[in-house]
Amino acid sequence: MIAPGRDEPVRVETIVVPDPGPGEAVVQIQACGVCHTDLHYKQGGINDEFPFLLGHEAAGVVESVGDGVTDVSPGDFVILNWRAVCGNCRACLRGRPWYCFDTHNATQKMTLTDGTELSPALGIGAFAEKTLVAAGQCTKVDPAVAPQVAGLLGCGVMAGIGAAINTGNVGRGDTVAVIGCGGVGDAAIAGANLAGAARIIAVDIDDRKLETARTMGATHTVNSKDTDPVEAIRELTGGFGADVVIEAVGRPETYKQAFYARDLAGTVVLVGVPTPQMKLELPLLDVFGRGGALKSSWYGDCLPSRDFPMLIDLHLQGRLNLEAFVTETIELTDVEKAFERMHHGDVLRSVVIL
Ligand code: APR
Ligand code: ZN
Ligand code: ZN
Repeated sequence: MIAPGRDEPVRVETIVVPDPGPGEAVVQIQACGVCHTDLHYKQGGINDEFPFLLGHEAAGVVESVGDGVTDVSPGDFVILNWRAVCGNCRACLRGRPWYCFDTHNATQKMTLTDGTELSPALGIGAFAEKTLVAAGQCTKVDPAVAPQVAGLLGCGVMAGIGAAINTGNVGRGDTVAVIGCGGVGDAAIAGANLAGAARIIAVDIDDRKLETARTMGATHTVNSKDTDPVEAIRELTGGFGADVVIEAVGRPETYKQAFYARDLAGTVVLVGVPTPQMKLELPLLDVFGRGGALKSSWYGDCLPSRDFPMLIDLHLQGRLNLEAFVTETIELTDVEKAFERMHHGDVLRSVVIL
């Protein structure tokens, strides 16, 4: 599925996928979720390198690997990730590979039949029967999981779960508030639940979202259209605020809510992605005086090799309901419709089955 130019409708095209070179793998895609980032690519909001090969929340089976690839082999069931760590940059060398500053993608290009080079979304491009990636972008997981569920961990759901368990370091007994309960916020709720949070307060401006948030593990809900969320969260936490507040919208006003809804020395995690125009203004004295930690969460600060197999195992054991994130499965030709439903807030995830 190609996005040919800024705001032009997406369309299905024949693409040429080269045989994998050294360090690369070709993966037969089985399922790929529709994410906001795909829509941003289509709208030209990420960069201008059209045409894009969209899709990046995917699972499938390795078809072939290039020279020197030892971690995966043909036939392996894998989830694709967009942060294949390099092992050599300053973050990796300091033992913090989830911050890797030099993540890998395939070096060869996929093309249209006329030779036009494609830009794969987030270095993946998985609204396609097969795609070419760096072998490190393939993470092997238990093949007992359904592909439409597994693929979710490739982006939004991992970002949300990781915002809670990796970045926010939510622990047993913590109070957690999550502002914005789309796919990412709901995953943060599921992650906080998994980590043993005692109280999980979901905040959204849409009652439908708050209902779903409850099924993900929220113990309390606040509609911030009619209620001041900072006061409501304080009221639900003995007047103090939550230990961890996760901002899953990506706007200055919701970030401010998160900032003031946390307890002294608490943690704010920003996992929502702002636009370049947005500015944040806060009294510096409050930043100092309230202490604690203000953190951003990139891709849930996940380490795919550590987190994907673990979360799939927990899912297969019935301890993490990932199916709840799949609102519908669709065909490749339905991506445009899925963008619209996503835009209207009607779905958590539409997943393309290939
Ligand atoms: N206050 C509270 N909730 C809000 C507000 C607001 N002012 N504005 C929007 N929301 C809610 C929406 O009602 C919706 O439920 O935030 C949610 C956003 O969800 P989605 O649009 O489904 O987005 P999602 O996929 O969850 O991603 C959220 O994280 O990774 C980033 O780029 C992504 O910035 C986006 C964010
Ligand atoms: Zn690195
Ligand atoms: Zn995504």
